[in-house]
Amino acid sequence: MSPFALGGARARVPAKINLHLGVGPLRDDGYHELSTVFCAISLFDEVTVRSADHLRITVNGDSARQVPADPTNLAAQAVMLVAEYLERQDANAEIEIDKQIPVAGGMAGGSADAAGGLLAASRLWRGDLSRDELLSLAAALGSDVPFSVLGGTALGTGRGEKLLPVLNRCELSWVIAVAKTGLSTPDVYRELDRLRAERDEIVPPPGRPDALLRALAAGDVTALAPLLHNDLQPAALSLQPMLRRTLRAGTEAGALAGIVSGSGPSCVFLCADPDAAVSVAAELSGSGVARSVKTAFGPVAGARLVTP
Ligand code: C5P
Repeated sequence: MSPFALGGARARVPAKINLHLGVGPLRDDGYHELSTVFCAISLFDEVTVRSADHLRITVNGDSARQVPADPTNLAAQAVMLVAEYLERQDANAEIEIDKQIPVAGGMAGGSADAAGGLLAASRLWRGDLSRDELLSLAAALGSDVPFSVLGGTALGTGRGEKLLPVLNRCELSWVIAVAKTGLSTPDVYRELDRLRAERDEIVPPPGRPDALLRALAAGDVTALAPLLHNDLQPAALSLQPMLRRTLRAGTEAGALAGIVSGSGPSCVFLCADPDAAVSVAAELSGSGVARSVKTAFGPVAGARLVTP
């Protein structure tokens, strides 16, 4: 039976990794100017939206209890935004989120749920919004939400919401070490500002990572590995010093490179191929440095409707 017949629609949305995250100075609006390269990877949340007589949210998955099941949930915010955009009288819907993406992990899990809510509500209410309409609603929900809609590999500027697709001929194999406790994105940006102020650093606008973009276009994973970079990493390490051990354990286990993902605390390890990723994951699991260890590949497509 189609999701339509059940009065519901389901979207599947990937996690992201920042292959490069350059952070400029703090702007007057409280955001930082970014130059970042996003890559969508094969860890997915699913968001199902069904007709209901009032707004209801359920969250399933390992870390479901860490996600608010109330109107502050980003998927609920997205559904309400679509209702408003379509000039509906109410946003009554049952929203079910199946989580695989780590919560507060720096992998855009909340943004994925927002993108899923946009797409599924748009289908449920026959809005069938264009990609441009979805991207503009997405930017109102959070800096990473437009990329969750778009997927693939993209250069992000502004606060991360201005996107340009990037040619990526690499098939990237990843190991993800999920940390025992999460980090809040604003806290990590604040810590970066504090560290920069402590060093009297003059922060230039973030530049485009041309060498990394060339390695992606050439499909050269070996050239790419040492170019992975995250300006937020020192701040994440300052808040969770244990992550140094995790990063060391991954490279000692044979990864080509390891970095903190986005604002952290998930650490992601680039491996030579899928077999190498399985072997690195096995060793990391045994080392006890992470709450859980996953493998994934990328790039993958952005938010898509699927049949339940
Ligand atoms: O846009 P989003 O709601 O995901 O951002 C969460 C927080 O992360 C912001 O309130 C801000 O503190 C920080 N942030 C930032 N610069 C960015 C993106 C996010 O300082 N470019």
